[in-house]
Amino acid sequence: MRTFILAVVALAATSFSATAQSVDQGRTVFRNCAACHQVGEGASNRTGPLLTDVVGRAAGSAEGFNYSDSMLAANASGLIWTEELIFDYIADPTAFLRTYLGDDNARAKMTFRLKDSDDRRDVIAYLASFRTAAAVPEAGFCIVNATDRTHLFANETREGARRLAELAPGERLCSDQTQAEDGIVSVFEDAEGFEGCSRIVPVGTAEELLDYAEFDRCRWGSHNS
Ligand code: HEC
Repeated sequence: MRTFILAVVALAATSFSATAQSVDQGRTVFRNCAACHQVGEGASNRTGPLLTDVVGRAAGSAEGFNYSDSMLAANASGLIWTEELIFDYIADPTAFLRTYLGDDNARAKMTFRLKDSDDRRDVIAYLASFRTAAAVPEAGFCIVNATDRTHLFANETREGARRLAELAPGERLCSDQTQAEDGIVSVFEDAEGFEGCSRIVPVGTAEELLDYAEFDRCRWGSHNS
């Protein structure tokens, strides 16, 4: 990622500062999950969905996996897995979905619960070690270049904090943690002209650019236009 304007502030540290040690311990904890889940290179869906890149991924979005209705409802309402949310989810998946959806009849398809909070932290550090891109900041938003070419992107908060970067395919640019309710992401033709496409992105989510066309005719992940 080539950053043009150095407005890059380090993401506020969460309690999830993954150390090599917690990743190592998480590998051991993951044996509990491995009965149903795979992660990493060559992983596929089993009893549970594959967990590669799950941090920062939309809930219920692993391709080809047959999710519960409750998980699909969480997906429809825009749930993105942050480390904090996975931490709550794996302690009690059904309770998590009931609270999140505000629906006492919600049911998770995952029957396993991991109670110990250190184990949960470690296994999340392990999962996060597989992600190919950074997670969406809790109070921020991201743009992901899901096209097959490098483009110039910007994101801008309502307060006017702006970041501009050239992203290779698969890279993402996230805002830092702000109080913004939502933000604007753009893709530009070039740094001089500033012609391109823009979109409003809710906080806590990532928008994907699927295809860059001419002005305002880009294809985005959330809605096609
Ligand atoms: C007995 C099988 C089983 C075990 C063991 C299990 N899971 Fe799951 N997991 C599932 C299933 C099934 C789902 C899909 C849930 C749904 O559709 O409601 C799931 C979903 C998930 C999700 C959400 C993924 C997505 O795509 O939205 C995460 C995160 C997750 N599991 C993490 C874990 C972790 C971490 C462990 C180990 C501590 C674990 N699971 C252990 C079966 C399991």
